Amino acid sequence: MISRDVISLAFGQQGSPYRLDPNTIRMKNGQIEGTILKTTSEKEKIKLPLVVTFLDSGSTRIQVDEEKRQKGDIELRHDSKVRKERYNEAAGWSLTGAGLQPQKLSKFDKGAKSTTVTWGSSNQFSVIITYAPFGIELFANDKKQVVLNERGFFNFEHWRPKVEKPVTEEGKDEDKKVEPLVPQEDESTWWEETFGGNTDTKPRGPESISMDISFPGFSHVYGLPEHAGPLSLKQTRGGESNYDQPYRFFNADVFEYELDNPMTLYGAIPFMQAHNKDFTVGVFWLNAAETWVDIVKTQQGTTMGLGGHTDTLTHWFSESGVMDIFVMLTQSPKELSQKYAELTGYTAMPQMFAIAYHQCRWNYVSDEDVKDVDRKFDKHNIPYDVIWLDLEYTDDKQYFVWDQDNFPDPIGMEKQLDEHERKLVIIIDPHIKNKAGYQIVEELKSKDLAVKNKDGNFFEGWCWPGSSHWIDCFNPAAREWWKSLFPYNKMKGVQSNVWIWNDMNEPSVFNGPEVSMPRDNVHYGNWEHRDVHNLNGMTFHNATHHALVSRAKGESVRPFVLTRSFFAGSQRLGAMWTGDNQASWPHLAASIPMVLNQGVAGFPFAGADVGGFFGNPSKELQTRWYQAGAFYPFFRAHAHIDTRRREPYLLGEPYTEIMAQAVRLRYSLLPSWYTAFREAATEGVPIVRAQYYVHPHDEAGFDIDDQFYIGSTGLLVKPVVTEGGESVDIYLADDETYFDYSTYKTYSGAGKRHSVTAPLDKIPLLMQGGNIFARKDRPRRSSGLMKFDPYTLVVVLGRDGRADGELYIDDGETYDFEHGGYIHRNFTFGNGSLKSQDVSSSVSTKDTKKKAVYLKTMDNVLVERIIIVNAPKSLEGKSEVKVTGQSSKSGGTASMSYHVAKDGNAAWAVIRNPAVKIGADWSIDLGVNTDAKGEL
Ligand code: GLC
Repeated sequence: MISRDVISLAFGQQGSPYRLDPNTIRMKNGQIEGTILKTTSEKEKIKLPLVVTFLDSGSTRIQVDEEKRQKGDIELRHDSKVRKERYNEAAGWSLTGAGLQPQKLSKFDKGAKSTTVTWGSSNQFSVIITYAPFGIELFANDKKQVVLNERGFFNFEHWRPKVEKPVTEEGKDEDKKVEPLVPQEDESTWWEETFGGNTDTKPRGPESISMDISFPGFSHVYGLPEHAGPLSLKQTRGGESNYDQPYRFFNADVFEYELDNPMTLYGAIPFMQAHNKDFTVGVFWLNAAETWVDIVKTQQGTTMGLGGHTDTLTHWFSESGVMDIFVMLTQSPKELSQKYAELTGYTAMPQMFAIAYHQCRWNYVSDEDVKDVDRKFDKHNIPYDVIWLDLEYTDDKQYFVWDQDNFPDPIGMEKQLDEHERKLVIIIDPHIKNKAGYQIVEELKSKDLAVKNKDGNFFEGWCWPGSSHWIDCFNPAAREWWKSLFPYNKMKGVQSNVWIWNDMNEPSVFNGPEVSMPRDNVHYGNWEHRDVHNLNGMTFHNATHHALVSRAKGESVRPFVLTRSFFAGSQRLGAMWTGDNQASWPHLAASIPMVLNQGVAGFPFAGADVGGFFGNPSKELQTRWYQAGAFYPFFRAHAHIDTRRREPYLLGEPYTEIMAQAVRLRYSLLPSWYTAFREAATEGVPIVRAQYYVHPHDEAGFDIDDQFYIGSTGLLVKPVVTEGGESVDIYLADDETYFDYSTYKTYSGAGKRHSVTAPLDKIPLLMQGGNIFARKDRPRRSSGLMKFDPYTLVVVLGRDGRADGELYIDDGETYDFEHGGYIHRNFTFGNGSLKSQDVSSSVSTKDTKKKAVYLKTMDNVLVERIIIVNAPKSLEGKSEVKVTGQSSKSGGTASMSYHVAKDGNAAWAVIRNPAVKIGADWSIDLGVNTDAKGEL
């Protein structure tokens, strides 16, 4: 760790040339406007318009642009026709428009050296904008939480013409050569850059932006996916176990990515959480160009080790675009998730099948192959919902055209899947094969909907199909055209149980610079590719999502589209996976922080290829991977074309059965997973949650990223990710008792690690006391077949003898839930009784009928079993409980059995067939006060 003083010495000396001109500061509709002046010489002052907005959502938005470029008052090089402005449309893609209204300010105080603004319901937030040098400090509860430009790294590369340097003849005037006093900058890549045989012409010259953002008193920062590293982000300026380069964002198709590395991967969410035990702040750097983030941590004021604290200092820089920064000051990670989701949107509520198990490989080679795999899953009693087709289903990599030889009857295949409510997902990538007679490419070109190169011709590059063109989904007309390709009467061989996988949308261009498009390619609106690169994947995902929404009139089902590339906001469109990992133990381990981090950054519907993409996993590794994958929000097995077949039934015993058990466990917990998805969809919270997120005041858990909780269920899992692993140490932060999921063995002791044995057939999974969660315990072939199955409620009593939990249910398919077509229950257990209460929101009169219709479909769905874990002794000997609100006429009672505590395993009780409706109010009375106090 570097000393704070050294850093300010190093950076503070030169002084920042940026000054906010006080005469320009205006307060207008909750926004502060002004002009920052960049002094480059006596004569030249560059004008940078500044807007600071205090948002409804409690966030502060800081926008800086460049006047000359805004006005188009610049000259482009190489006769380029691209836009002269800095790219300013990322917000249009990323933000939803919610929470963007300015807030009422309680105080605006323009002083001689700074302006102070105060706002918030109890004036808890304030911002001080300092003029010279320009800087912003943000306070909450009178404590400084975030500082912009503290180290003077704020920078705007303003437009200037290229000045050709006179070429000096070698050797001439040798005597006159003097070493410059200040080291001269290397301009060699400012105006043109050649990389891997491609030249980037940079028609607008250099235009990067940067800002340093400090978090005083915060020693942990999280977020910034997608990178394969630990959840708590590392320092990036060298030093033992630190990185020696910044976290990079430049969405790319990375071949065999490295672990524990800040290198860029397929997606980019430039959102960071800084967290300490008292407070959580967020920074969202809304920029879609190549971006880097440096992180250093400094020790403050450690005199003899007393009173010291750590600050985290970050530095963000992007290649182009306007500066658009959101700073959010919140009390907890949960509150921050909500604020971020208000800006960029919530997770789209998926269909139920999408959160069940997916069977994929590159490739299932024919429709007969698919049908055979389908039958074999049934034969081995392994549930699955979706089988996937990779590239090889197409005719010569022409999307929308089936390979007739190997897939002569796709509809027949889809019908077989449909018999058990199963689905098919097929891959469609954004590169379109450049082949005469291929209708899709002909239309793409004739309608002028493809990405162009710098000369205004259709960009041509190489990908899976060989020579290809790329659909430009920034173009509304291209999106409309894309929509027109998906209706059932247009898209051959596809029926309503078929969904889509979008891959290679970074975009991947095999012969392009860094396996992507040249940065001086041109998109719709004459924007350069460099400006929009990190948005590109999201625009394709968006086009497919909307194409599926509208593929049939009157069909109102939620689409499923998996994407590899993403940006902030992609959570509104579907799921993501972590790309081409390897069948190795370290890759299995790395998948967990990666998936957790997706949740931190608001895109929690995430998973890694189960089994590992490249290579052949050992049977043990594959089995452990299924056990971990059953706890990814997105649970899909996938494998490279060169790998051996590895459908779980092929491994033989005991592996097949152990994997089947993991999949069955996922299916049994689907009601709880679905409830966790609902929370993500309405509150922006992660689906799987890291230790710090659930216990934000427990510093000892801040860098734990190998165990996690599922939604709000209190289920805590720590998958085994090491070869030969026979136990794991689970850290418990709180005073609650935890119980093994299947044996009810108890674990307690806050702030300690507890060893949990985990032979191959065991997933270390604990239940935290105080929670109630729902299951469905009748194994079936697919989730669709479980739709009307009865529920089991697991009531895990806490130390106080109480518990509570929630359950969300809807039809798992349509948008009726947006019109009241859902059930949302709150279960509470206390004082010897369990109650179910309605917590659904009230619906408009117009929707009352929809709600009633849905509830009617669920009328016969009952609770078939209630398990009370940690059941108090006072229940021993009781065999009957009183049921109020029962649906049947069984006399208002149900039977109960009690199982005493034994060998460190907690006592438990089972109430059988209470015959209460899952969608109705009811209560079950045990006849004794079970509160811990009540029992004393
Ligand atoms: C990419 C994807 C991989 C897929 C392959 C072929 O490598 O990441 O999942 O199987 O392309 O489509």
